[in-house]
Amino acid sequence: MASLKPSHFFFVVVLAIFLLSHPVHSNDEEDNLLQGLNSYRTSVNLPAFNKNKNAHCVAEKIADDIDDDQPCTNPSISRGNETKLSEYPKAISKCGIDVNTTSDVIVLPVCVPKLVPTLVLTNFTRTHYSKFINDSSFTGIGLDSEDEWMVVVLATNTPAGSLANGAYSLVNAKVGLGHHYMLLFLLGFVLCLLH
Ligand SMILES: *[C@@H]1O[C@H](CO)[C@@H](O)[C@H](O)[C@H]1NC(C)=O
Ligand SMILES: *[C@@H]1O[C@H](CO)[C@@H](O)[C@H](O)[C@H]1NC(C)=O
Ligand SMILES: *[C@@H]1O[C@H](CO)[C@@H](O)[C@H](O)[C@H]1NC(C)=O
Ligand SMILES: *[C@@H]1O[C@H](CO)[C@@H](O)[C@H](O)[C@H]1NC(C)=O
Repeated sequence: MASLKPSHFFFVVVLAIFLLSHPVHSNDEEDNLLQGLNSYRTSVNLPAFNKNKNAHCVAEKIADDIDDDQPCTNPSISRGNETKLSEYPKAISKCGIDVNTTSDVIVLPVCVPKLVPTLVLTNFTRTHYSKFINDSSFTGIGLDSEDEWMVVVLATNTPAGSLANGAYSLVNAKVGLGHHYMLLFLLGFVLCLLH
């Protein structure tokens, strides 16, 4: 068995730290809710929601910000650009989404202490929020939670609610790729050292 030189060992440690600093986020709350919402959709004879990458991005950014900004109350629904949720426009821009594809999008935030799964689900299926869940024009979904907040973003398959990437998407794509190249580079480097 080849023994590692100290300097090689150092790089393995750096790589391990690098990988560990990007932990896999546990998505139990989101998965539970999506399953519940899709059961509801089936029960009202609507097709299940499809996960939408950009809706997820928006939900994630809103959840991050709303957690810092707002007390645990239930803010109003946001529809497209008529929003009282100050986090929404920021999220749209951070996710590199063309604002022209956001006017039919709906954002449904709820705050439930400890995010008790049954309470979170009934927040969407047994309140005024249910009319959006029971609406065939919404086909895509993104969900994210942060502490006591769960944010659901619903997208349509029409241009006015598709959450398509705009001019900034190229920049975001480059940043994303850069990150992966860095990982590949480090992995390759370590493999060479171990060889
Ligand atoms: C919101 O979007 C609609 C349709 O895209 C547009 O007609 C309206 O002027 C916009 N409202 C605001 C406040 O930007
Ligand atoms: C949105 O639509 C307006 C008018 O149709 C256009 O001028 C603008 O460039 C569009 N914005 C983006 C980001 O594509
Ligand atoms: C969601 O559920 C919580 C706890 O049951 C409740 O306090 C809150 O008002 C609900 N939110 C909405 C939008 O109905
Ligand atoms: C869902 O919507 C349909 C048509 O819009 C309506 O007939 C039905 O009663 C709704 N179901 C529930 C559970 O709200």
